[in-house]
Amino acid sequence: MAVHTPVLETPRLYLRKITLEDTDSLQLLFEDPVAMQYFPGTKDRAETGEWIHTMRSRYESDGMGFYACILKDTEEFIGYCGLLLQKDVDGTDETEVGYGLIRNYWHQGYATEAAKACMEYAFNHLGAKSIISLIRPENINSINVARRNHLTFVKNVVRFGHPHRVYGAKSPL
Ligand SMILES: CC(C)(COP(=O)(O)OP(=O)(O)OC[C@H]1O[C@@H](n2cnc3c(N)ncnc32)[C@H](O)[C@@H]1OP(=O)(O)O)[C@@H](O)C(=O)NCCC(=O)NCCS
Repeated sequence: MAVHTPVLETPRLYLRKITLEDTDSLQLLFEDPVAMQYFPGTKDRAETGEWIHTMRSRYESDGMGFYACILKDTEEFIGYCGLLLQKDVDGTDETEVGYGLIRNYWHQGYATEAAKACMEYAFNHLGAKSIISLIRPENINSINVARRNHLTFVKNVVRFGHPHRVYGAKSPL
């Protein structure tokens, strides 16, 4: 097993780069039709492999991406959270905070905790002036994560062929 150096740490979680060794764990999220209901669809193992490769090239090209969320107490993989460069959101390139957890780990505050750490990292270390989340209007759980981290509604956009709400926050620096 490779040694994984955390990119970020929260009170209960490590966030580290995702590798192909995470495929089985990610399948628990990406094969779940409930968790994936606001995405184009579930993913099979090949699609998950492509997603991992995309994330790993994003770490190199953008200096950010989605990270594996690992429980400190048990070393369980519970999902992903991180930062994604979103090109041309209504004419502007934006840094997005995004997250997805395996359903067993919902409603315990982990997504909010991980997203908060990612936002702080973007503001304090990456020099982001603002952060957004692109969220389907029906995705109440995700909207609640954004609100708990003080992102507020900015505007409606059409993204990936679907209406999305842009929630955003400015850098406090
Ligand atoms: C979006 C997603 C990660 C949100 O998960 P979540 O469990 O609702 O959010 P959190 O992990 O922040 O947990 C918050 C809940 O834990 C509760 N909680 C319990 N213990 C807690 C603790 N110690 N600290 C903080 N909150 C705690 C909060 O009160 C809150 O309760 P609620 O669900 O009744 O509102 C999850 O729904 C998901 O993975 N969805 C599929 C992927 C997806 O749609 N991603 C977003 C695309 S835009």
